Amino acid sequence: MYIKKDVSLKTYNTFGVDAKANYFVEIAEEDDLEKLHEEGAFERFKDFFILGGGSNTLFVADVESLVVHMGIRYVKYDELGNDVYIKAGAGVIWNDLVNYCVDRGFGGVENLSLIPGSVGAAPVQNIGAYGVELQDVFYSCRAFDVSSGTFVTLNRNDCSFAYRDSVFKHQYRGRYIITEVNLLLSKESKPNITYGAISAELHRRNIQEPTIRDVSQVVSAIRVHKLPDPTMIGNSGSFFKNPIVSKGMYEKLLSNFVDIVSYPVGDTHVKIAAGWLIEKCGWKGIKKGPVGTWKNQALVLVNLGNATGIDVYGFSEEIIDMVDSKFGIRLEREVNIVPLLAKY
Ligand code: EPU
Repeated sequence: MYIKKDVSLKTYNTFGVDAKANYFVEIAEEDDLEKLHEEGAFERFKDFFILGGGSNTLFVADVESLVVHMGIRYVKYDELGNDVYIKAGAGVIWNDLVNYCVDRGFGGVENLSLIPGSVGAAPVQNIGAYGVELQDVFYSCRAFDVSSGTFVTLNRNDCSFAYRDSVFKHQYRGRYIITEVNLLLSKESKPNITYGAISAELHRRNIQEPTIRDVSQVVSAIRVHKLPDPTMIGNSGSFFKNPIVSKGMYEKLLSNFVDIVSYPVGDTHVKIAAGWLIEKCGWKGIKKGPVGTWKNQALVLVNLGNATGIDVYGFSEEIIDMVDSKFGIRLEREVNIVPLLAKY
């Protein structure tokens, strides 16, 4: 393990934008973090950045500090009756872990098939899709505390999970580096097919009693149809979060836009489909120079070739302003902007 200088990040982010890390280190095992700590690297590079699969990051400039690329890769499990405790290194590709579990009949993560990114990044933004969020199967994680140089175990309650959010985006940012994620899965789990698109596709395939493999395949097919393949067209999945508004505000919107797509959040709030808001502004599948929105999902911003991070960022600013002036809602980015811009 050694710190390299001037490393291109182009192949380390699914947007495929070019940026450089002034300092870059690859972590292959937990000991590497202890060595970095002993060398005083976390003191020297206070605003270090942890990079997993680079699927939720937009580089808008070179990173002056240290980029820590997580490469700890292993999967193990223990069974206790029908319960299965999975331990996966933070550098494992998330979808490889899903396939590992589906192949062995361990249920709970099949709805999260084909989400890009790494295992270590999954708790940070509490990844979610098709009616399931990581927090539903999360048991604990191991993390390196850069201030004390020791490893800690954080349980579900320590992580303050919420919609695309966790403590790792707030108080624990820059303090803990996740090295291992533990999931609690089940050999007897009942597939979750509450999400309309899943049940419709199962019905179309004439599958009445779906297995977890069926659900994984259906989710993968829906994603492939809707979302661009980042190895072909640079993108970061949903660029914005679905905004949550008060019921009062929703009712006002509904009186002007009867076809608004929304989901209740408790009794007092409503989540609005950001893709719908953008499409309603006439910006689905549009192209502006090297950036655009995807033809099948307006919430996905795409790099049409040689876009810079600033091109994508500027385009996202236009979307925020446009949606705000039409609906009075300011979209928030789901994607992390690195390095942070003063404006962000
Ligand atoms: N819609 C439109 N126009 C669009 C896109 C969506 O009208 O261009 C409407 C449609 O009515 C559609 C509804 O919005 O039925 C919801 O769309 P979709 O099922 O694609 O889900 P989403 O709310 O846009 C969220 C997650 C996705 C996740 C899907 C499925 C967020 C920000 N995004 O998208 O996660 O795969 O649900 O569960 O919560 C990601 O985070 O990167 C991601 C892809």
